[in-house]
Amino acid sequence: MRQRTRVAIVGAGPAGMLLAHLLDAHGIESVIVETRSQAYVLARIRAGILEHSTVELLRSVGLGDRLDAEGLPHRGIYLQTPQERHHLDFVDLVGRQVWVYGQTEVQKDLVAARTRAGQAVYYGVADVELDDLTTDRPTVRFTDADGVQRTLEADAVAGCDGSFGPSRAAIPAAVTSVWERTYPYSWLGVLASVPPSTDELIYAWHPDGFAMHSMRSAQVSRLYLQVPNGTRVDEWSHDRIWEALSTRLGHTGWELAAGPITEAAVLPMRSFVQSPMRHGRLFLAGDAAHIVPPTGAKGLNLAVADVALLARALAALLVDGDAGPADAYSETALRRVWRCTHFSWWMTSMLHTSGDPFDAQLQMSQLRWLFSSTAGATGLAENYAGLPLDL
Ligand code: FAD
Ligand code: DHB
Repeated sequence: MRQRTRVAIVGAGPAGMLLAHLLDAHGIESVIVETRSQAYVLARIRAGILEHSTVELLRSVGLGDRLDAEGLPHRGIYLQTPQERHHLDFVDLVGRQVWVYGQTEVQKDLVAARTRAGQAVYYGVADVELDDLTTDRPTVRFTDADGVQRTLEADAVAGCDGSFGPSRAAIPAAVTSVWERTYPYSWLGVLASVPPSTDELIYAWHPDGFAMHSMRSAQVSRLYLQVPNGTRVDEWSHDRIWEALSTRLGHTGWELAAGPITEAAVLPMRSFVQSPMRHGRLFLAGDAAHIVPPTGAKGLNLAVADVALLARALAALLVDGDAGPADAYSETALRRVWRCTHFSWWMTSMLHTSGDPFDAQLQMSQLRWLFSSTAGATGLAENYAGLPLDL
């Protein structure tokens, strides 16, 4: 069965759903295809921190109501070593801040808004294939949840299908460059039904390994521990997790409140960038084109920045007949991608223990510099709170 649409979007994660929302604001209709069920996509626990520009963008397109009511604005973060806990105030340093608002909540808001607008989404599809990408009628073929074979015939295809989707591989290897780094450690991430023991996030360097205290609400904590690659969740009892968190996050006169752990998972850490992010009428956005290690909370924010740029580029191309922004999309998006790739690598390298005593001395020196130098702290704040969207 053939179906005509302006933009075929592969993937209903935050990048795909937000792109559909932004295109709609330009009067451009789209159809989304997604391999998973809607319930699965809504339940995935992932990112938790929204940059200043992400929040401004969501508000500007009618997605800010629940975020403003339930999101937690944070002025900055705590960085610590076993000797010292130091607060960096982003508002004082760069006049911008961040919000704690889980990716699950962003996804809920997007699904609600798109459902109200009558967005066409095929969930539970299989055998997704992208064709005719260098023509002005690219297609996306798939089998829908009822087993019906369908073809979307579009003006453009947006590959928003994350790190394992088919869009990335649809760009011929001969024109593709890839940069990749796998880190020699992973994160054990837990969600716990216990009020956070801190008002703002704590990033802790410790000789046993990095630890972080984040949160999702006034009742729910999100915590992470550096663990060796290949660690299985069942190697870590809940008691062992709380003990390690308490040691690594430890600070004089401060105590970590423990509580029931409702979710635990091991997350590998990787940097990946694929260029170009455009091939003919296929445009990649979000994790489909790049992955950052989570330290620094950039993954979701980068996906949002990509689609903000892409929506503008597609509107210029499909509504005004101006190919300029679409031609510039990849190069413009990659400038921010590389800034965030560097920042995420830097935060990761500075805070995770490698076992090498020379590395540890360099890390301590770097942290002392951030604690004592306004210039150093401002650099971190500018990157963490996020650069303005380059629109
Ligand atoms: P995704 O959210 O991956 O969405 C892609 C969608 O495409 C998915 O719904 C997928 O099912 C779908 N798809 C895949 N294949 C196909 C196909 N063949 N056809 C159609 N659809 C397909 N970032 C942070 O900033 N902080 C964090 O703490 C953090 N934690 C993370 C934890 C995990 C386990 C992971 C995987 C990522 C985490 N990230 C984190 C990164 C952040 O969640 C991502 O950067 C963000 O989800 C990117 O959004 P996206 O829409 O580009 O990709
Ligand atoms: C969260 C994850 C991060 O990677 C980070 O740097 C900050 C917060 C979180 O899940 O809350």
